[in-house]
Amino acid sequence: MCGIVGYIGPRETAKVLIDGLKRLEYRGYDSAGIAVFHRGKIEIRRKEGKLTKLEELIGGETFDGNVGIGHTRWATHGRPSDENAHPHKAGKVAVVHNGIIENYLSLKEILKSKGHVFTSETDTEIISHLIDEFVQEGYSSLEAVKIALEKIKGSYALGILFEGDEECLIAARKESPLVIGLGKGEYFIASDVPPILPYTRDFIFMEDGEVALLSSKEVKVFDAKGDEVSKEPKRVNWSPLMAEKGGYKHFMLKEIFEQPRAVIDTIRGRLSEEKGDAVLEDVDFDPTFLKKIRRIFLIACGTSYHAALVGKFLIEEFCRIPVEADIGSEFRYRDPIIGENDLLVTISQSGETADTLAALREAKRKGAKALAICNVVESSLAREADHVIYTHAGPEIGVASTKTFATQLVILFLLALRIGRELGLLSKEEGKVLIEELVRVPHLMEEMLKASNQVAKIARKYLHARDFLYLGRGINYPIALEGALKLKEISYVHAEGYPAGEMKHGPIALIDREMPIVVLATKNDVYEKVISNIEEVKAREGKVIALASPSDREVAKKVDDVIFIPETLPSLTPILLTIPLQLLAYYMADFKGTDVDQPRNLAKSVTVE
Ligand code: F6R
Repeated sequence: MCGIVGYIGPRETAKVLIDGLKRLEYRGYDSAGIAVFHRGKIEIRRKEGKLTKLEELIGGETFDGNVGIGHTRWATHGRPSDENAHPHKAGKVAVVHNGIIENYLSLKEILKSKGHVFTSETDTEIISHLIDEFVQEGYSSLEAVKIALEKIKGSYALGILFEGDEECLIAARKESPLVIGLGKGEYFIASDVPPILPYTRDFIFMEDGEVALLSSKEVKVFDAKGDEVSKEPKRVNWSPLMAEKGGYKHFMLKEIFEQPRAVIDTIRGRLSEEKGDAVLEDVDFDPTFLKKIRRIFLIACGTSYHAALVGKFLIEEFCRIPVEADIGSEFRYRDPIIGENDLLVTISQSGETADTLAALREAKRKGAKALAICNVVESSLAREADHVIYTHAGPEIGVASTKTFATQLVILFLLALRIGRELGLLSKEEGKVLIEELVRVPHLMEEMLKASNQVAKIARKYLHARDFLYLGRGINYPIALEGALKLKEISYVHAEGYPAGEMKHGPIALIDREMPIVVLATKNDVYEKVISNIEEVKAREGKVIALASPSDREVAKKVDDVIFIPETLPSLTPILLTIPLQLLAYYMADFKGTDVDQPRNLAKSVTVE
């Protein structure tokens, strides 16, 4: 939610900032702005709307300074407008902010009584006034920031500039992500790694409570007590090309097509075919703990929650441990019964989702062990969990999750295999069969992607439908939810996912000849029942798009459109089923002309409750 960047060094600062914001726009796109020095003064350019509007505003204008900050906004306090766009400047202090200041109203009153005049409705503006207040009292820039932060309640990643000091960029972090990129004679700050990848792969990941002072010569980091700390730089092995569109019309399409590669990267080095087991060295679970696990909680939001629902089937099948899958925002508010012998697994692409993070903290507070499945290295979840397993999907830029979902399913499969083997519930031979089949999955995904033209035709045929139903049963039910979510979020067509057996308890009333129903009808132990559901829909003249097992002529005869899904184990079929549903949503959205990569009102990582 909101992205910030900052730069100090010899390059053309405004260009570095704008390029960085382009790679952060997935975090919000209600307005954008930069603050850069020109002839010793801080110049601010900011504009409501997408980044292109800011670029138009700047036009050919150039700035001579070597330090600057930038922001792309997802509005929380104050509607999207030029006035509410960041950076905000008071006196000599300009600020960009990601997060929420909870006590901004009371601070605003105090500052107003001291003569400060506010020009926006944002919570952020008080930060610039507060720091400026202390600068005016004679404190150094760093001291003024530290004192101001002591007075602020809430979350923040901040980039701060001071008029009169072109050798100073201050960054601060609390509960909102912030990284520092270490170049040669130049330094960067950003909410995430991709904006900095074209310049360096060496990063410092800031911790909560830390404040960093960047000049063109060095970076100093101070902890919450104000003591300077030495931070170990980390090397990130993502390449800048991974964050480019690579000839595809949209990031989302590129990311859908990247899935076979993402799965290969995620399983690489994590399989022991000989032992019929998964190698999750990064987890170093104590085997005695695994044997004692009473319950597993899978907690996530949105698409990652759908992965959790699939994970429940996998773990219960392979390990016979009861699993609860729950939504981050629900879990912690129901005083969950969780404790020492329970394992909480949080699943998150960004590793920054506020509700998921809060669930992890609650579970740890109650004594549970916490494992995070994350895509973003060193994200908050990754750092706060006892163990972390990374999905190696590479940077995901499209706001709708695609390749990270596939890799989450793979990790959950590996986790279930590992625990199942450790508990002796899966034999070595069974493990080998599972691995053999998993290794085939990327190839089967490639096969599936070849259906993209067929899916595009189906999307065109149903382009004017106003509502869709998605039906699935068992382990395929979460994929029905995921298909519906994808369609809703990028094409703005109303869609609902249902367990197929529930249709007769209500949704059947919606069915008429206008209503397309996507049925996940691959062969498994509930196949016959799904066929009956198809009959029920057809009897009411609904239009059925079926996803069926290869050459299932019986289904093909009954339905309006059929997409064949390559044969694999039922436990791996969800990975394949997801692909045509992602493509269906993608083509519907593209044909409608929506902004596929940046759907309205959404942001990629939801760092507010
Ligand atoms: C949907 C989507 C969101 C995210 C959700 C959780 O396509 O991307 O529903 O899945 O916001 O995000 P993470 O996985 O970063 O915790």
